[in-house]
Amino acid sequence: MAAMPDSLSALAWLVEAGADEAIGDVPVDRFSARAPARPPTEAKPHPASPVREAVKAAPSAPSDSIGTAMELAKAANSLAELRAALEGFDGCALKRSATHTVFADGNPASRILFIGEAPGRDEDRIGLPFVGRAGKLLDKMLAAIGLDRTTAYITNVLNWRPPDNRDPSPEEAAMCLPFLRRHIELVDPEVIVLLGAVAVRHVMGRSDGIMKTRGRWLEYNVGRRLVPVMPTLHPAYLLRQPAHKKLAWRDLQAVEQKIASLRSPED
Ligand code: URA
Repeated sequence: MAAMPDSLSALAWLVEAGADEAIGDVPVDRFSARAPARPPTEAKPHPASPVREAVKAAPSAPSDSIGTAMELAKAANSLAELRAALEGFDGCALKRSATHTVFADGNPASRILFIGEAPGRDEDRIGLPFVGRAGKLLDKMLAAIGLDRTTAYITNVLNWRPPDNRDPSPEEAAMCLPFLRRHIELVDPEVIVLLGAVAVRHVMGRSDGIMKTRGRWLEYNVGRRLVPVMPTLHPAYLLRQPAHKKLAWRDLQAVEQKIASLRSPED
C-alpha cells in the first residue's frame, strides 16, 4: 500500500465511512473547537481514563468521530498510550453495548502479528482477543508453527463486540481503523497474518473473497517498510468447515518459512 499524504488518507477514511458530500453550508474547523458533548450514555464498566476526559466532547457525526480517532491514534507513541486513547474514545457506538475494550494479547516484541475480526461474547466478557472456541483453535494453529502467546501478538480490526456477533458496519470499522493502523505501526511487525475476510477487507482494502486471497503473500506499508502479509482462514470458519483446515495449515507453513527466512543469519 503506497503511503498517502494525511489529507488524502483522511479523505479515504471518510469515504470508507460512507461520507458522500465534500462540503457543508458552513465551514468547520475540525482541529479547533469541538461540538458540544453528547448526552451521557448508560454507565459502562470500562475503566476511567484521562484520555476519556479529553475526548468526552467528541462530536457525534461519524466523520467527526473518525477525525477524532485519527488524531488520538496519531498522538499515541506507545502501545500503552494507544490502549488509553482507545479506552477513552467514545465515538464508536459499539462501545456502548460492550463490556470491555478488547485491545490485544500476546507479546508485541515478537513482531508476529495476527489480526482477527472482532471480539465475541467470551472476548467481551474477559477483555482479551481470541479466548473462546475460535481462540482455542487459534492457539492450536499457533502451536502448529511453534508459536504461542509469548511468541506472537494478537489483535482485531474491531475493539468492541458487535451485538449478537453481527458483521461490523463499514462505519464502525472505519472508526476503529485509525487505532488499528497505529497499532500496526507501533508493533512494527516482521510478518502479519490476517484471519478471515473482514481483516483482509479492512487492513488491505480487498474484498475479493478470502478463498481468492488466502495463501498468497501481500504487502502492507508500515512506515515506508513493506511487511509481508498472509491472509488465511478465520478459526471460527474452520470450526464450521473443518475440511478446510488443510488450507489454513498450508498458509501457516508459509508463515513459518517466512519467519525462518527473515531471521536466518544468511539473509
Ligand atoms: N473472533 C475474532 O475475530 N476475534 C476474536 O477475538 C474472537 C473471535
